[in-house]
Amino acid sequence: MSPSAAPRPAQAAPADPSLSLFQLLDPSVHADPHPFYRRLREEAPVHWDPFMHTWVVTRYEDVHTVLHQFSADRTPNPDQMKALGLPSLGPVADVMAKQMLFLDAPAHTRLRKLCSSAFTPRRVEAMEEQIQEIADTLIDAVIDRGQMDVIADFAEPFPAIVTAGLLGVPREDHGWLKAKSADFAEMLGNFQHNPDRVHRVLKSVAELTDYFRDAIRNHGDRPGLVRSLVEAEVDGNRLSEDEVIANTIVTMVGGQETTTNLIGNGLLTLIRNPDKLAELRDEPHIIATAVEELLRFETPSQHTARIAHADTEIGGRLIRKGEAVMAVMASGNRDPRRFADPDRLDLRRTENRHLAFGWAAHFCFGAALARMEARIAFTTLLRRLDDLALASDRLEWRPNSGLRGLQALPITFRAVGAAA
Ligand code: HEM
Repeated sequence: MSPSAAPRPAQAAPADPSLSLFQLLDPSVHADPHPFYRRLREEAPVHWDPFMHTWVVTRYEDVHTVLHQFSADRTPNPDQMKALGLPSLGPVADVMAKQMLFLDAPAHTRLRKLCSSAFTPRRVEAMEEQIQEIADTLIDAVIDRGQMDVIADFAEPFPAIVTAGLLGVPREDHGWLKAKSADFAEMLGNFQHNPDRVHRVLKSVAELTDYFRDAIRNHGDRPGLVRSLVEAEVDGNRLSEDEVIANTIVTMVGGQETTTNLIGNGLLTLIRNPDKLAELRDEPHIIATAVEELLRFETPSQHTARIAHADTEIGGRLIRKGEAVMAVMASGNRDPRRFADPDRLDLRRTENRHLAFGWAAHFCFGAALARMEARIAFTTLLRRLDDLALASDRLEWRPNSGLRGLQALPITFRAVGAAA
């Protein structure tokens, strides 16, 4: 039977809009999605969402299964875009179709091997001193003010400057690259289609493509990831220029919004838990487990999509070949079946194999760098700023249901060493 021939089980019963993932578009749910995720985990853990036309899985074990077994090849090709009535997005789909994030083996294995040969652990380790210097320079710029917007003054520029350094493009381009990444990120992690923004996304993808083509052709002598990707060779295999460009874009975008959100959401969590903030300030050696706990507790990349390769039963429900599934990592990370006392922030938690970086073949390509950036960001903020307090009781979240982060995080502080 074809996937579309049979009615979905849930269609027989009246659909319950309060269980739809569309709830995340409600600002009050987005501000604290955990009660909504808890409800899904308990009442409908493998849920056919008729409003989104996708399955939604929210328990740890099911998210894990989906990330392990299902297909990541989910980008409509230009012809399918046309059929969906979105022909103008064809050029964006063209770039996405060459990015490792949207491919299955063997195409994914080939790309990931080549890209990994360029993005080695040694390259990440070598960046530590430079990353520390970037963190300190950003704090120097605000230290005398006694107040800052953590997002605009630190969490956004920090990974943007780090990424420019990683890629080997001029540091001063970081603001422009950040703005273009934010446009591309609208295509990731987001399920509200905003036709007004299509033109802008298209323009940004075209500009990024031109920018990196120029970097390859005219500045190929600059050391950095772009040059290493051009030179990468595994078993006589190399990346085409278009593949280098597409995967430079996904690496750049993947490394920005997420890291910004980890720093912003993480610092907010610490400020809301002053005993934990004090614990980390007094015992900075617990930073490694603290970063893992902040990734679990307020997962920066909340969900991702997959397609069923074949008819598959999960949690007693039959997901048919070709159907879409949303795997909600942020919910799996609070599943009491997997984590003891999951709603408690425990900066020393050691049993913590969270899903924040995904799992299996598509496990985050930049996890080592993200962990280093987070360690340096939190320890530098706490080492240099004391008496952290929210400067506003109204917090606004960005309208992206997947890449969940704050629009702004205004705080007041006292410079460490300054008189109280
Ligand atoms: C806190 C920071 C980060 C978080 C939470 C995060 C999260 C994730 C997640 C959940 C995935 C898997 C998506 C899926 O399976 O559909 C992923 C993949 C990826 N990430 Fe990250 N990421 C972070 C930082 C970074 C950084 C710093 C880079 C690059 C420098 C990066 C580059 C990538 C790339 C290229 C992929 C695709 C890997 C593949 O498909 O094989 N990420 N990331």
